[in-house]
Amino acid sequence: MAIRTVGVVGCGLMGSGIAQVCAAAGYRTRVREVEQKLLDRGLAGIEKSLAKLVEKGKLSADQKSAAQQRLEPTLELADLKDCDLVIEAITENLELKRSIYATLESLCGPETIFATNTSSLSVTELMVGSKRPERFLGLHFFNPVPIMKLVEVVRTVASDAAVVDQLVAFAESLGKAPIRCQDRSGFIVNRLLVPYLLDAVRALEEGVGSKEDIDRGMELGCGYPMGPLKLLDFVGLDTTLYIAEIMFQEYREKRFAPPPLLKRMVLAGYNGRKAGRGFYDYSS
Ligand code: 3HC
Repeated sequence: MAIRTVGVVGCGLMGSGIAQVCAAAGYRTRVREVEQKLLDRGLAGIEKSLAKLVEKGKLSADQKSAAQQRLEPTLELADLKDCDLVIEAITENLELKRSIYATLESLCGPETIFATNTSSLSVTELMVGSKRPERFLGLHFFNPVPIMKLVEVVRTVASDAAVVDQLVAFAESLGKAPIRCQDRSGFIVNRLLVPYLLDAVRALEEGVGSKEDIDRGMELGCGYPMGPLKLLDFVGLDTTLYIAEIMFQEYREKRFAPPPLLKRMVLAGYNGRKAGRGFYDYSS
């Protein structure tokens, strides 16, 4: 079945970005949030991001308004019932995600493909109890979604190869560059990225260098767009801690163990850019 209508569950940082790229690529896109305030915030982010793309000449004003017309915001999960593909991008909470999928199971037809944007939970664990295991995959986008080219297409042992190919083609139709991977915690990118970020915190803890010098080292020495501590602030220290804990539980390897400084910064509420403070100060 061709994908024409996409449902996105969650209009936070990732969900709004995913809804934006789907609508911009020509898909009717229904995006659902739990509260009007959160929906409005997500839609304002989409408006800002599309306006930035127009300003940069990457999108025409007509394309921007066409994308916005294809976006159908809603507070009702039931409005996603006739979508061909539903991408869930809510908070990283297994029980919450499972309850969303249980409701979607009762609403959507058997042909609907379910995809999760989880960054660390097991797709297989989310899929348990689903009546469509062969049509239940991971589709992992990167922040900021409108800019980052990569999408990880994650298959489980139960995935239908034709559905995997369909999601690879779908990601390409969004202008993204998909890679295929198996359902292992962190998939490809976070499996490599998270130990690197945690090591940067350990280097800071051990006094190897200042935060500025650690960041400058990786930016100028390796050509990374952001040093690791800036990237931690960007992704969110709480999010990274959560991902690291899940990966540590899965692999029981020291490289995924969150360093004490990271835990304490999260406890203190220094969660990065969104909190106005992380390794750097964003209060101004
Ligand atoms: N919407 C539209 N345009 C945007 C945008 C958005 N949300 N964010 C940035 N841009 C555009 C800017 O307009 C600019 O366009 P230009 O190149 O045509 O001038 C371009 O993107 C670069 O933006 P800025 O000049 O403001 O800033 P930078 O040059 O520093 O780039 C960045 C910002 C793209 C975020 C860059 O610093 C970067 O690539 N950082 C690394 C991001 C990264 O590693 N993301 C992955 C995080 S891990 C993850 O997501 C996985 C999860 O599971 C944890």
